[in-house]
Amino acid sequence: MKILAIETSCDETAVSVIEDGKKILSNLVASQIDIHKEFGGIVPEVAARAHTEKMMPLLQKSLAEAKVDLKNIDAIAVTFGPGLVGSLLVGLSTAKALSYSLNKKLIPINHVEAHLYAAWLEENSPPKFPALGMVVSGGHTELVLMKNHGDYQLLGATLDDAAGEAFDKVAKLLDLGYPGGPAISKAAQEGNPDKFDLPRPMLDCRGRSRSALDFSFSGLKTAVLYLVKNSKTKINKNDVAASFQKAVIDVLVEKSIRAIEKYQPKSFILGGGVAANQELRKRFVEAIHELPHPVKFYCPPIEFCTDNAAMIGVNGYFKAKAKKFIKWKDLKVDPVAEIE
Ligand code: KG4
Ligand code: ZN
Repeated sequence: MKILAIETSCDETAVSVIEDGKKILSNLVASQIDIHKEFGGIVPEVAARAHTEKMMPLLQKSLAEAKVDLKNIDAIAVTFGPGLVGSLLVGLSTAKALSYSLNKKLIPINHVEAHLYAAWLEENSPPKFPALGMVVSGGHTELVLMKNHGDYQLLGATLDDAAGEAFDKVAKLLDLGYPGGPAISKAAQEGNPDKFDLPRPMLDCRGRSRSALDFSFSGLKTAVLYLVKNSKTKINKNDVAASFQKAVIDVLVEKSIRAIEKYQPKSFILGGGVAANQELRKRFVEAIHELPHPVKFYCPPIEFCTDNAAMIGVNGYFKAKAKKFIKWKDLKVDPVAEIE
C-alpha cells in the first residue's frame, strides 16, 4: 500500500511517499528556518504563505523521487492538527483537492500521534504494545500509553510551556539565535551543567495524582531569566545553557522512568523535535538500560524526530488498515487537536 503524506502544521512543508507503513520511497522537507530567523520566531501568516509557495513543487518532486504516479497512490494522509490554522489549511486543502479530483481515500492525522509513529519507519522489529510514548516538541510535552494502534491513554502533559518552547525562549533570552533547541544544545556542549542550580519543575509531585506525570517549564524559563538579569558579573552563557538543558532532561527522564515503572510497557518511544537533542537521547539510553526489566527503546534518527511527512505516512498506513478514512467534505482543521 502506497500512502502520499502531507504535513504543514508549523513551519515545515513536507511531502512523503511511504510503502506498507515503513518503507520510505521519498521524504522531502522544505524548512522555513531562514524565513523566520529574522523575526526570532515563527510568524504564522508568513508560514502559511510559504507553505502555499512550496507545496506544489514539493509534491511534484516527492512523487518523482518515489517514482510513483498520483493515480497509483492508494490513499492520502494529511495532518489536520494540532498546529497553526493557516499552515494546516494549506496541507488540508491540497489533500482535499487531490482526494476529490482523483477519487482517493483520505486519512486525517494527528501530528502529535504521528511523532510516535516515526519509530516504525524503516524498522524491522517495530515497537510492541503496550508501548509508552513521550513526545517532546515545540508545542507539546506528552506521555502517552499506547495500548494498541489507535488506543491511547494520555498519562501526563505540560501545564504551560512545552519543552521545545522552553528551549526556544531560553535561547532567545540568552541571544543564542533561532531555532533555540539546536542553539542551546550546541552552547551546552561547551558549558558546565552543574554550574547553576535551576529548578526541576514538578519533580516532587509524586504518588497517584496525575500531576506526578505532568510537566511545567514556564517557571524554569523564568528562573533562567532572573539568573541572567540578577547576575552582577558577566554570565557564561554556555554554563547557563548546559544547566538549563540538564534541568529539562532530568525532569523528562525521571518522569518517563516513573511511568515505565508504573505501566510496565514493552517498548518506550521518544519522539518530537526535542528528541533530536543528543544529550537527551544519551540520558534516556542510560536510564532505560538501568531498568531491572527489559524495555526496548526507540528513538528515530534526527531527521524523523523533527517535523516530517514520513511519520504522517506511517501513521496513515495503520489508520488505513483500520479503515479510518474521512470524506473530503468532513475534513476540518483542529488547531488544538488532542491524542484520542
Ligand atoms: O517536532 P518539531 O520539529 O515541531 C513541532 O511539532 O513543534 O519540534 C520543534 C522543537 C523546537 O522547539 C526546537 O527548538 C526543538 O524542537 N529542537 C530541539 C533540538 N532540535 C530541535 N530542542 C533541543 N535540542 C535540539 N537539538
Ligand atoms: Zn512536530
